[in-house]
Amino acid sequence: MTDTLTPVLTAGWADERSWTLDAHVRRGGYAALDKAFAMGPDAVIAAVKDSGLRGRGGAGFPTGMKWSFIPQDNPNPKYLVVNADESEPGTCKDIPLMMASPHTLVEGVILSSFAIRAHTAFIYIRGEVLHVIRRVQAAVAEAYAAGHLGRDIHGSGYDLDVVVHAGAGAYICGEETALLEGLEGRRGQPRLRPPFPAVAGLYASPTVINNVESISSVPSIIAHGPEWFAGMGTEKSKGFGIFSLSGHVQRPGQYEAPLGITLRELIDLAGGIRQKSDGQRHELKFWTPGGSSTPLLTAEHLDVPLDFEGVGAAGSMLGTRALQIFDETVCVVRAVLRWTEFYKHESCGKCTPCREGTWWLVQTLARLEKGQGTEADLDLLLDQCDNILGRSFCALGDGATSPISSSIQHFREEYLAHLTHGGCPFDPAAATAWA
Ligand code: NAI
Ligand code: SF4
Repeated sequence: MTDTLTPVLTAGWADERSWTLDAHVRRGGYAALDKAFAMGPDAVIAAVKDSGLRGRGGAGFPTGMKWSFIPQDNPNPKYLVVNADESEPGTCKDIPLMMASPHTLVEGVILSSFAIRAHTAFIYIRGEVLHVIRRVQAAVAEAYAAGHLGRDIHGSGYDLDVVVHAGAGAYICGEETALLEGLEGRRGQPRLRPPFPAVAGLYASPTVINNVESISSVPSIIAHGPEWFAGMGTEKSKGFGIFSLSGHVQRPGQYEAPLGITLRELIDLAGGIRQKSDGQRHELKFWTPGGSSTPLLTAEHLDVPLDFEGVGAAGSMLGTRALQIFDETVCVVRAVLRWTEFYKHESCGKCTPCREGTWWLVQTLARLEKGQGTEADLDLLLDQCDNILGRSFCALGDGATSPISSSIQHFREEYLAHLTHGGCPFDPAAATAWA
């Protein structure tokens, strides 16, 4: 962690034993509960709506609006489910958040569950990160022992139980309906939407599913008020977020900043693009705004505001703010092949365009990367993308096409250079750029 422009979520990360209840309470933690209990559930929903908070899992759906879709006349129990199955390539914000300040998440879970009138909440954490699961379990246990969870929380009459659930290690379980299938004990495959989970989710009951960072933003909104939150960010993308810079910058890490900051500003905070051994700088070649499911951008896009609208206008998506930075030493074809192999591996197999299509994408890309294809393979690749995009059952299939079509758009010449060179034109030993 280095510089932050809006230290809210990351403010206590450097504190000694920041993950403990004591450290959280020292920073004013759990004080928002009494305020929310006095406001009542509808006023909490209104505050989150007024704040303009949009889902931090990638899609940017307005959080307060999602909560207001929960039908209160439905006699079934209501559930809150936290999507902590962070797995998008390059995305690494929720895991540090849960490691450094798990009580911020637990406090957000209590406030959000109270708002939607849920009495059971689940935190679904990807199974590979056992250390994170243990840390969140420990925080939940501390919160129970201190009376922040369980029966009659803070004497308010409100009851809440929280279950920490370990996923079994499938990227698709980050898709909210596949996550629900997994939580119910079935194979993780997406369900048809609508109905959206807000209407029929876990055990066919009204369910709000929110990302870790969205839920963790709620305590500060209740504590400081919606205007405070809405005073940061841009007109339609309010507040702050954690931007994860990885790859070829001097200081990779998590940078918390208002939405609308640019990559140029973030790279400055991160000490610039990495240096060569002679002290000169490498050059930015391409980057992802929100993991590999979002179309690639280039140095032309350094000044694009990193908000939902700005990145959309540049032809990509803000997604998870997983900014993977690649300099001129990286072969874009090889990078795209690696991502595509990931999607092929993680395709759940439910629908033909994605199950078969991602396999074909890997075959065609691998041929091109080895210099064994023909120029017609580029059109074939784009045709394969066309037959997946918009025809897949969930967003995984669409996401798999993003790095391919955008890389051909920006780096067609580099694909062709593999053909004329008879293989990858980069010299990995010297790490020199293709020219
Ligand atoms: P989506 O836009 O379909 O839905 C977003 C949320 O809004 C969902 O919770 C959905 O239930 C809700 N929603 C949308 N329309 C609704 C309606 N009419 N009524 C009630 N609720 C409604 O996006 P989706 O498919 O859930 O997520 C895709 C995003 O996930 C991508 O943008 C990508 O960036 C992100 N992603 C994140 C990953 C991670 O590791 N954090 C991994 C892969 C993708
Ligand atoms: Fe499964 Fe892929 Fe179809 Fe999604 S798009 S349902 S991951 S096969």
